Amino acid sequence: MTFVSTSPDQTKKIAADFAKTLNVGDIVFLEGELGSGKTTFVQGAAKSLGYDGPVRSPTFTIVNIYPTSHETIKKIVHVDLYRIKDSSELRALALEELVQDVDLITFIEWPNLLEPLLKTKPKRIIFEEAEIGRKIIIK
Ligand SMILES: Nc1ncnc2c1ncn2[C@@H]1O[C@H](COP(=O)(O)OP(=O)(O)OP(=O)(O)O)[C@@H](O)[C@H]1O
Ligand SMILES: [Mg+2]
Repeated sequence: MTFVSTSPDQTKKIAADFAKTLNVGDIVFLEGELGSGKTTFVQGAAKSLGYDGPVRSPTFTIVNIYPTSHETIKKIVHVDLYRIKDSSELRALALEELVQDVDLITFIEWPNLLEPLLKTKPKRIIFEEAEIGRKIIIK
């Protein structure tokens, strides 16, 4: 499915609708250039799953975890691997174990290094420039 978003609020709305289709254990890859709206998308998704606090970019923390009031999805793991340089740095995070916890879903920005380590096939959201706004492609 392809959407066009002309504002951060529209991106959040698309994300909120998408989040309602998720199940525990799902892993969502967010792929697109710097500033293309990946973190904005997680803000909309987290809110619709019952997390009311702020969603800030995990650029420096690498991993943020938000609790939710959702019936089955108890936590949202939000990862940004932009600053991770190689697979030894990545292994130290033990993400491939964390994402298998039974009560959470995971959103990952800049996921390329992690992909070969995952046992679960991720869902992919691709962010592209459009003539006006951004294209959001849900695979
Ligand atoms: N249609 C839109 N959807 C999302 N964000 C938009 C849109 N139009 C403008 N923006 C702005 O673009 C920026 C997107 O930033 P965001 O942090 O979501 O990007 P990102 O893809 O996570 O970047 P990074 O790779 O650096 O983490 C925000 O400042 C937001 O206000
Ligand atoms: Mg981001």
